[in-house]
Amino acid sequence: MATIGIMDSGVGGLSVFKEILKILPDEKYIYFSDNAWCPYGEKSPEFIIDRVREIISVLMDKGAEIIVIACNTATAAAARQLREELGIPIIGIEPAIKPAAKLSRSGVIGVLATAGTLGGNKYHLSKSLHGENVRIVERVGEGFVELVENVDLDSKHAEDIVRRSLQPLLDEGADTIVLGCTHYPFLLDSMQKIAGPEVLFIDPSEAVAKHLLEVIQQKNIGLHEGKPDIELISSGAPDALRKVFKLIRSADR
Ligand code: DGL
Repeated sequence: MATIGIMDSGVGGLSVFKEILKILPDEKYIYFSDNAWCPYGEKSPEFIIDRVREIISVLMDKGAEIIVIACNTATAAAARQLREELGIPIIGIEPAIKPAAKLSRSGVIGVLATAGTLGGNKYHLSKSLHGENVRIVERVGEGFVELVENVDLDSKHAEDIVRRSLQPLLDEGADTIVLGCTHYPFLLDSMQKIAGPEVLFIDPSEAVAKHLLEVIQQKNIGLHEGKPDIELISSGAPDALRKVFKLIRSADR
C-alpha cells in the first residue's frame, strides 16, 4: 500500500485530496494542514520553503513515499528546490492556463490566485507558453482563503466577498476562469451564481490526481495491499480541518 503525504497552508488542499480519493480510495494518507501559518499567499518564498521543508520531513518521518503539495502558492515557491533537496517524488499544482486558453470562446480568460502564485516564475512561464492567443486578466481572491478556513462557504457575506474579486474579471469579458488556489473550489457555488451558467471555472485537481497515479506507477510504489487509512494533522485549527474533511466525504462539493 502506498503512503501518500499531502500538504497545504490549510484546508484548501482537501479539494485536491477529494479527487485523489476518487482515483485511489484504498491507500494510506497523511494530510497536513498548516493552519497556524495560513494564509501563505502574501508570505515570502523563503518563509514558505522553510515551512514546506519542515512539513515534508514530518510526512516522511511518518512513512510518506510520495508528496502532493496541494497548494499553488507553495508549489510556486518551494516545489523545485525541495524536489532537488529531499529526494522524494513531489507532485505540485499550478494554475491551469493551457486548458482554459483552449476552452475560452471570448478569448479572455480570468485567473484567480494568491499574490505569491501570480508573482511566481512558473506562472509567468506558463502564461508565455500557453496564453499567447488569449488575453489573461488576473485577480487575487481577496478574503477567499479566510472564508474557506472559517467554513463560511454559502452565506450572503461569502457571496459579497467573492463578488468583489470575481466581478472585475467578468467585466473584462472573461468566460473561462482558472481557479489558481486550492481553497477557491470550495466557493464554486457562490462563484457560479455570480457569474451565471455560461462561465466555465477550471479546477486542475482531477488532473493532479491522475498525475499522482502516473508517478506512483512510474516509481513502482505498491498499491492496494492494506486497509485505507487517513490521518489528518493540523498545526493550528483542527476543527476546521475536520469539518471540511467531512464535507468532502459527504457532499459533492
Ligand atoms: N491553498 C493555497 C493555494 O493553492 C494557498 C492559500 C493561502 O494560504 O494563501 O495557493
